[in-house]
Amino acid sequence: MILVVKSGGEAALPEWQDCFAKAAPGLELRWWDDPSLDPARVGYALVWDPEPGRLARMTGLRAIFGSGAGVDLITADPLLPRHLPLVRCVPPEATQRMGEFVCWAVLSLAKDARRMAMAQARREWDYFEAPFAASARTVGVMGLGAMGMRSVEMLRGLSIPVVGWSRTPKALPGVETFAGADGLPAFLARSEVLVCLLPATPETKGIVAAPLLSRLPRGAGLVQVGRGVQQVLPDIIAALDEGRLSAAVIDVFEPEPLSPDSPAWTHPRLTVTPHVASLPSRMERARYVAGCIARLERGEALPNLYDHARGY
Ligand code: NAP
Ligand code: GLV
Repeated sequence: MILVVKSGGEAALPEWQDCFAKAAPGLELRWWDDPSLDPARVGYALVWDPEPGRLARMTGLRAIFGSGAGVDLITADPLLPRHLPLVRCVPPEATQRMGEFVCWAVLSLAKDARRMAMAQARREWDYFEAPFAASARTVGVMGLGAMGMRSVEMLRGLSIPVVGWSRTPKALPGVETFAGADGLPAFLARSEVLVCLLPATPETKGIVAAPLLSRLPRGAGLVQVGRGVQQVLPDIIAALDEGRLSAAVIDVFEPEPLSPDSPAWTHPRLTVTPHVASLPSRMERARYVAGCIARLERGEALPNLYDHARGY
């Protein structure tokens, strides 16, 4: 069976081949743009950003694997074969890495790591008190899915109080939760640091903008790790300048890479990270995909399926 890959550029192919040789020795791995590839012979595809229409030409496909947890660049294809399972890439290592990133970002806001990094670049001994103790501020996590839930657990492990918001109601021991549009204002009012871990959907597009930011406690922190289309960057920068937000860590942008002339790069209270919050290794992803293929071939249910009706 052929697995075609489009993730990480063609330079990543040897590593993918090495990983799949270990994880699924029976699979034949081929690069997406391999000119000798007969699309009709492809059984599985592992992709991040397939060109529209290409997957539809693979008439023997049995499943599509996203190489990330968010599959918005795959579902953007108007010709996507929607009858096939589309599996989001959520190995346990991915949620762990996201939890680590969210904890790092919240702690870096608490310690003002941005100020320290700027002072170091100037060789300046800038002695200052940390803005807050992380355990004294409530973190509001928007999106209580695979990524949000693990982040909540890990924040709680650091004694950080957490509230959560999702589309449908959730019961989480020790965490006050809010749901839907009705629950949003009360959730925001409690969120002294807001973490966005929502998927990109029509409902979440542009959500991190002035109206939402104006509902946060004054001087709140922001950690944006969902998708760039969810934010209005000029609104975030205006909120930082005005003091409505004290500081932010933003990992995702629209478009990516972030333009070299963006004011975000140099803002003294904004930390830019290059979409690296949760990037499982190729070996971790290969093991996960191989496990899913084995389940599929045994006729078992697949985990983390994209739901076309919900849009995530
Ligand atoms: P998931 O398991 O599908 O969870 C999505 C969560 O968002 C669910 O709790 C869902 O509510 C909630 N949600 C969806 N639409 C909503 C709405 N309109 N209002 C309120 N809540 C809504 O997704 P995941 O695996 O946690 O991943 C979430 C996103 O993180 C991905 O889609 C991707 O964009 C981003 N991500 C970023 C990186 C990075 O490196 N920066 C890495 C991985 C993922 P319900 O629970 O009620 O369904
Ligand atoms: C990365 O952004 C992912 O969705 O896994």
